[in-house]
Amino acid sequence: MPLISGNWKMNHHHFEAIQFIQKLAYLLQKQDFDEVEVSVHPPFTDLRSLQTLIDADQLRFKLGAQNCHSDDKGAFTGEISPVFLAKLGVQYVIVGHSERREMFGETDDFVAQKVASVLKHGMFPILCVGETLAEHESGLTLDKVRRQVRAGLDKRSSDQVKSMVIAYEPIWAIGTGKNASPDQAQEVAAAIREEVATLISRPAAEAIRIQYGGSVKAGTIADIMRLPDVDGVLVGGASLDPTEFARIVQYRHHSG
Ligand code: 13P
Repeated sequence: MPLISGNWKMNHHHFEAIQFIQKLAYLLQKQDFDEVEVSVHPPFTDLRSLQTLIDADQLRFKLGAQNCHSDDKGAFTGEISPVFLAKLGVQYVIVGHSERREMFGETDDFVAQKVASVLKHGMFPILCVGETLAEHESGLTLDKVRRQVRAGLDKRSSDQVKSMVIAYEPIWAIGTGKNASPDQAQEVAAAIREEVATLISRPAAEAIRIQYGGSVKAGTIADIMRLPDVDGVLVGGASLDPTEFARIVQYRHHSG
């Protein structure tokens, strides 16, 4: 099933988060949840409130987180353990988002440890990969993305990889209003799938879901979801408004 994920980044405090989810739940129909999986990734401080709301009203959103540490516990001031996330009913954890890699110095190695840890605690990693504008313009996109995929999946079993999601997010398309063209997005998504087949197994490559991310809007999602190797989207800015995000989830019923 396609996975449509809203990454709120550092937006919406917990009161806003509650209002958002109530409004989104009102806008979506049962059929939407039958056809599309929807995850929301609020800031950590919102998670407990949303868990309570989702449980109480039996909502079908999947709770997601934006990051976690790789260790279960210890002297890591300010960090969040994957154990805590699992306790809050979190199912999907974004790992290695480009903002974490570029602004907070997360290495391929650290990202790989987080992937292992998220899986160990029964959650599903959304492993983010993608090239900078300079890499894009120098024709290095596939090299970079393949390297990040290889590093992130290192030592993972075929069954583990089957449950994972890889989000291809070209950094130059994040928050800029620019999209990779459908041909570019398809080329990279196909290369990711091929890399998974080579590295892990063909069944894992077929089962893993690949998302596209970077300035996805209600008006652009339909063209992206048509691509054979794209199984969902990871949405930033356009996931902050419940009406726009509902239109994204309902992409099958409109063309823009
Ligand atoms: P935008 O949709 O705001 O470009 O953000 C994409 C993103 O980084 C999602 O993780």
